[in-house]
Amino acid sequence: MRPLRLTVIGIGYLGLTHAACMADLGHQVLAIDTDRDRVARVAAGEMPFFEPGLEPLLRKGLETGRLRFTTSYQEVAAFGEVHFLCVGTPQRPDGAADLRYVTGAIDSLAPHLRSACLIAGKSTVPAGTARTLLASIRAAAPAGDAVDLAWNPEFLREGHAVADTLRPDRFVFGVTTPAAEAVLRQVYAAPLADGIPALSMGLETAELVKVSANAFLAVKISFINAVADACEAAGADVTQLTAALAYDERIGRRGMAPGLGFGGGCLPKDIRAFRATAAALGVESIARLLGDVDEINTARRAHVVNMARKAAGGTLSGKKITALGVAFKPNSDDVRDSPSLDVIGQLAAEGALVTAHDPVALDNASRLRPDLRSAKSVLEAAQDADLVLHLTEWGEYRSLDPAALAAVVTHPVIIDARCALDTRAWQSAGWTVHTVGRSA
Ligand SMILES: NC(=O)c1ccc[n+]([C@@H]2O[C@H](COP(=O)([O-])OP(=O)(O)OC[C@H]3O[C@@H](n4cnc5c(N)ncnc54)[C@H](O)[C@@H]3O)[C@@H](O)[C@H]2O)c1
Repeated sequence: MRPLRLTVIGIGYLGLTHAACMADLGHQVLAIDTDRDRVARVAAGEMPFFEPGLEPLLRKGLETGRLRFTTSYQEVAAFGEVHFLCVGTPQRPDGAADLRYVTGAIDSLAPHLRSACLIAGKSTVPAGTARTLLASIRAAAPAGDAVDLAWNPEFLREGHAVADTLRPDRFVFGVTTPAAEAVLRQVYAAPLADGIPALSMGLETAELVKVSANAFLAVKISFINAVADACEAAGADVTQLTAALAYDERIGRRGMAPGLGFGGGCLPKDIRAFRATAAALGVESIARLLGDVDEINTARRAHVVNMARKAAGGTLSGKKITALGVAFKPNSDDVRDSPSLDVIGQLAAEGALVTAHDPVALDNASRLRPDLRSAKSVLEAAQDADLVLHLTEWGEYRSLDPAALAAVVTHPVIIDARCALDTRAWQSAGWTVHTVGRSA
């Protein structure tokens, strides 16, 4: 494999992971971000977020000199044979994707592109974005038509980002030329040689593969949560039901986790953006489906607050509540659109005195909610609690000692909003357990 000179534009969760992993594959990588403070910290080996296994790769990249950081687009343009676009595509107030960072990055890069290169978009964008960008890049770049564009969407999951980048289920290459596909095959030569499949297709299809994958996962989660509601009403148990469904290979086990629903920086905004794209294209069917999925998902949060109010005797005002978890999912410090944090906010709005615990996400949560009260240990958070809420299914919460916790609370009552605790073990230690998707 010939090592390539790659650049990575935007060093958030996606970009920093991609940059460190590409350096690990042997490429020379230069990464840029408009956040100068972040660039300085990362260049000194400091991780800007929690991601298992990424810090050693960052340090290795810096030590070998294969991974460098800059704030100069001129330097980036002169260095890169391939430029990976990894900037954020957040949600606009109307639900559509905000593409200002994508166009901003291209506006900064294109005027400096003086020789042939490939720009490979990895950010999640609406169908049609890449083709529009290609025209504007070629118009602005001195190298003109010698600049090519591909869309190479990213499927990594926070908490598993390194493995997902180095050994994804598949690579998706949205291309308009065989040359662009050949360059991407060179970039990923090592994992491709290990048998990871690569699928080439048009730009619009590649853009849609990514949003369809996220939409399908969201449908699965909202489906099982709608069934959880039916279980509660019918006196059934959604955990047992899910286990039985899983034996049907057409349904499977993965992604069928009933509970508090999905959140984070991707799934919610991606389904809303897909919905907006579908509506703009006049495709009512997927827009309607995703609207329902979003509504079911958001309602999970109010549902858990209702369970808490009921368990607390009809009012939350003045009740001491322990919230286990603030991250949007375990193994991550990301609190963007976190269902747990949303529930905590709703409890506090009704006058509850909430103390939160999380293994790694409390700093980020406090930045979003400066009034958040927190404790460094679960036992400290649970001191004198009237009610405990299990909101983010960290492994360490599953291995808590219910008896030790029962000794410090005022009332041993817990709501398992993630259907993840060993109910019998908690009941044996004297707890009243309320689980989402279970009537008793
Ligand atoms: N986080 C994930 O798990 C994940 C997974 C797959 C796809 N994605 C997609 O990847 C994209 C990035 O997501 P993220 O979570 O890494 O976002 P992020 O907000 O963590 O990072 C984006 C970074 O881009 C930088 N940036 C913005 N404008 C810039 C510019 N003009 N030049 C250089 N840097 C600039 C920001 O300063 C920030 O550091 C989004 O489209 C997202 O949907 C994310």
